[in-house]
Amino acid sequence: MIIGSVCENKATEKRISVTPDNVKKFVSNGFKVYLEKNYGDHLDIDDEKFLENGAEFFSDKEKILKESDILLQLNLPDEKDLKNLAPNKNLVGVFDPINNKDSISKLAKNNINVFSLELLPRITRAQSMDILSSQANLAGYKAVIDAFSFFNKAIPMMMTAAGTVPAAKVLIVGAGVAGLQAIATAKRMGAIVFATDVRMASKEQVESLGGKFLVVEGSENLETSGGYAKEASVEFKKKQENLLKETLKKIDIIICTALIPGKKAPIIIKGDMIEVMQKGSIIYDLAASQGGNTEFTKADQIVDVKGVKILGDSNLLNKLPISASNLYSKNLLNFVINLYDKKNKKININLEDEIIKKTLVK
Ligand code: NAI
Repeated sequence: MIIGSVCENKATEKRISVTPDNVKKFVSNGFKVYLEKNYGDHLDIDDEKFLENGAEFFSDKEKILKESDILLQLNLPDEKDLKNLAPNKNLVGVFDPINNKDSISKLAKNNINVFSLELLPRITRAQSMDILSSQANLAGYKAVIDAFSFFNKAIPMMMTAAGTVPAAKVLIVGAGVAGLQAIATAKRMGAIVFATDVRMASKEQVESLGGKFLVVEGSENLETSGGYAKEASVEFKKKQENLLKETLKKIDIIICTALIPGKKAPIIIKGDMIEVMQKGSIIYDLAASQGGNTEFTKADQIVDVKGVKILGDSNLLNKLPISASNLYSKNLLNFVINLYDKKNKKININLEDEIIKKTLVK
């Protein structure tokens, strides 16, 4: 059984799907591991590191694509590479099935099993494979670090002989996985942290991390049975706007993380709200690649609106690719182990397993 992975487009994707540590684990589970030459050189991980753990390297990318029983990637390979995949083989990654519908259905027609891991059910058994959580945790952390580095004042309160520096006030919009990590990171650095979310379950989580939860008064809990957010009503949005407009007068830094699965990110921070903020304030928009939580967000650009800087990366994880790859490849390893029938040495597409059924894209 061969696990393979070819280089991503390194200009836009720095993460890798198979790390040297995981090569060892795949080999000890009875797999061969085929990698493309110079697979991790952009991360200062030489081919030798993978070879030491039992990987085999090929400069012939086609061979890896043709022979791998399971190809592990981050993004969907381009059409030229996809043509080299053979029927009954398996492709695993994060493939944005809504936007890549045509390419994926072509693969499915050729009997290639495509598993897209953003579709994993958020159940306890799937936690070790949950790429959304592992990557969102790191993104929440890094968003705070980046936002703080652009802020021209200190973050923690400091009492000095020359006077007191007040603690920075940070608002986290959306208290899911990324938002909760952002709260924890900002608190650790000494900020006073506020947070808001449409799911009432998040109130307790925010408070347990030392954040102050802003409740949109008189609103219903907008949580689906799967734990995700529902789209807010016009009435809710108006109440949320009024609450935020009042709060933003005292906020120095906003970290936006609000998302609704399968939809464009909700616009929460509007022009009239930014107007009440002090010049020099920072908004880091983690929802930038899904359209952004502000009216002005432009991915990979710094937009200045009346002295407030709005930042957002299209792939923030490219700024800590080694940590992100370590967690991502571990998620993939756990997914593959669940897919593999060790006794009979074959891939078992068991559609009674919710994890397999929900991630298999047709
Ligand atoms: P997400 O990335 O889809 O959204 C981020 C946050 O934005 C969510 O908390 C959402 O409620 C919030 N949001 C959406 N619209 C908003 C608005 N208009 N105003 C304010 N906030 C808004 O969510 P994520 O981080 O993927 O988490 C989704 C759920 O899944 C959470 O309940 C989380 O606890 C749960 N989860 C469960 C796991 C499990 O294994 N049981 C693992 C990971 C997450």
